[in-house]
Amino acid sequence: MSEHDETLRFSLEARLQHGLLAVSLAVLLLTGLPIKFATLPWAHVVTAFFGGFPALLSAHFAAAALLAGVAVFYLVTLIRALVRGRLDFSIVPRPSDFVDFGRHLAYLIGLRPERPRFGKFTWWEKFEFWAVVWGTTLMGLSGLILAFPERASSFLPRWVVGVARVAHSNEALLAFLAVVIGHVFAVHLSPHVFPGSTVWWNGRISLAQLHEDHAALYDLLAAARTPAAAPPPAASRASASPVAVKAGPRVADRTLIAVELVVFLGLVAAVWVGLVPYLLK
Ligand code: HEM
Repeated sequence: MSEHDETLRFSLEARLQHGLLAVSLAVLLLTGLPIKFATLPWAHVVTAFFGGFPALLSAHFAAAALLAGVAVFYLVTLIRALVRGRLDFSIVPRPSDFVDFGRHLAYLIGLRPERPRFGKFTWWEKFEFWAVVWGTTLMGLSGLILAFPERASSFLPRWVVGVARVAHSNEALLAFLAVVIGHVFAVHLSPHVFPGSTVWWNGRISLAQLHEDHAALYDLLAAARTPAAAPPPAASRASASPVAVKAGPRVADRTLIAVELVVFLGLVAAVWVGLVPYLLK
């Protein structure tokens, strides 16, 4: 196996689902946040861009329908995998993820020399996945209650409508921050993947990247491809790896990391300066 070899990580279906999810979420945020922050000047600009409030709300509903479509698409692929006996449970959290989390934090603050050897999905990828499942369910249910308040309160207590509004409004902001700060950092700005992972586009990941980010999965793949060359013992793994493993950061890398940090901290500052004083009012 060479450094330039690649392996498929996202199937075409997964890429389609990811792309449609991204489009629907972007439109939902673009059309929902101006309702939440209706008194701020930028909200008027966005509402005017859509041609007024009714059109903004229609776009919100259209994107909500798209999101529901993606959820159904995903459920269909799950059921099909179940019927074919190919359901993959590797996204389900395990006790070892909590251990990985602790070890990763220790590595990040310099208490451990190496990152944990992650499997197919890292602890934060699992966290993000389940946050989307939970968030979509909550936003879908609360959104439906807000769209049909009379019908909802005919079989639910009236206060549920108020709770739905608070949940919808705050979970939307959480989703926005999670995507802008968490996901964008993990898949674009992190020095491990900068300027960006292309898995979402062509589904492929280089074996060098796989070795760096999913070492345990890489070992399985290496053993399957060349059974005689089973993974070396932990102490000699990095040096005995069949693909190139990055040494410490070079000057160019350090410059890149510094630029990324400035961009990232700027993003975080913009969100805080723009939104937090408003929320505290
Ligand atoms: C991730 C998905 C979604 C996001 C990020 C989102 C975002 C938002 C935001 C920020 C608001 C403004 C809340 C406020 O007044 O403070 C809002 C309002 C609303 N959303 Fe969503 N939403 C999502 C999904 C949905 C879905 C699935 C529906 C279902 C039809 C829906 C229906 C509504 C309705 C009816 C309102 C109230 C509009 C009004 O006050 O007149 N949303 N949404």
